[in-house]
Amino acid sequence: MTAWHERIDGAWAKPGSLRLSGRWVLAVMATGWLCWAGPVAGQDPVQFFRQNCVSCHTIGGGRLTGPDLKNVEQRKDRQWLVRFLLDPPAVIQSGDPYALQLKGEARGVIMPKLAGMTPEALLDLIVAESKLEKSQFAGLQIPDEPFRPEQIQRGREYFLGHRPLSQGGPPCLHCHTVRGLGLLGGGRLGPDLTRVFERLQGRRGLASWLLAPATPTMRSLFQAQPLRTNDELLELVAFLEDSVKRGGEADWSSSLALFMLGLAGSVAGLVLVDTLWRGRFSGVRRRLVAATAHSRLSRSSVPASDPAEL
Ligand code: HEC
Ligand code: HEC
Repeated sequence: MTAWHERIDGAWAKPGSLRLSGRWVLAVMATGWLCWAGPVAGQDPVQFFRQNCVSCHTIGGGRLTGPDLKNVEQRKDRQWLVRFLLDPPAVIQSGDPYALQLKGEARGVIMPKLAGMTPEALLDLIVAESKLEKSQFAGLQIPDEPFRPEQIQRGREYFLGHRPLSQGGPPCLHCHTVRGLGLLGGGRLGPDLTRVFERLQGRRGLASWLLAPATPTMRSLFQAQPLRTNDELLELVAFLEDSVKRGGEADWSSSLALFMLGLAGSVAGLVLVDTLWRGRFSGVRRRLVAATAHSRLSRSSVPASDPAEL
């Protein structure tokens, strides 16, 4: 089996494999959107919540990207919540003050529209889980101590595809970049992940998000082949936390680097061609000049030698 990184590295060199991976990415996206659009028949709310909500919410485990949903109906009435769950972006866009406050607390992240389950069934589940001492949706426990350098390093290797993911998930570099990956950066299909650790509210937020991504592409990639919690997931989070600590913004430099590389390539090519052709040209010219000089010489010597030779 070819390792992922060999395919990526090869992709830069071989146009055929680049086309192949492009087609593959399109296929994944299409599947993602298809699964996304259609409601899942006969699914129960518990399963639906596990697949669509735990990436951003706990019930009684503190906030992740979205607020802790414990006792949400004591904060806001059901009618409002139903309307919100049917189309969160629309409610936020309508300028609803409570929704805007939630969005502010979520650092601008907007909850996606999640079709396939009635809001009432989900709210019933949240109410029932809120009453329990410990809900099954209390969320991941992530250690607080600083990550070790080797964890960050392994996360980087998973990201680049130098170390294959145990469940066979594709390396992040296919579609994402983070600052400081070197000259060629990474894919541009997904967002730049340089500051995603902050955006998704730290270790627990990011880890929970990655464990059950609720966006179409990521979900189609990692739902069937989830990251292993006790190492892969933590190590990727360690790498992305480190990326924020190293600072800087989205990695414009790698696209600039690509551009400069292209430019440098063309200039080098021109210089090379010029040098080769100048050599060739003057070589030809010198021979022509020599030949002309020779024939002129022999022509000029013709009259003199003519009588004798004839
Ligand atoms: C990508 C992250 C994300 C996913 C997935 C997500 N939410 Fe949310 N949710 C949020 C955010 C962020 C908010 C705060 C409002 C905003 O910024 O959109 C929110 C707000 C809410 C609220 C209102 C909370 C309050 O305090 O009033 C409810 C209820 C809710 N979500 C339920 C759900 C349910 C049920 C699911 C699964 C079907 C779900 N969410 C999936 C991010 C998410
Ligand atoms: C085939 C392309 C592809 C691969 C491979 C991929 N992603 Fe993504 N990712 C996306 C896309 C596209 C999005 C935007 C949301 C969506 O459509 O799913 C995204 C979104 C994300 C987000 C949310 C970003 C945000 O700002 O909200 C995170 C975090 C993320 N990916 C992490 C990863 C990690 C970690 C890996 C590797 C283990 C990975 N992705 C592999 C395509 C990919």
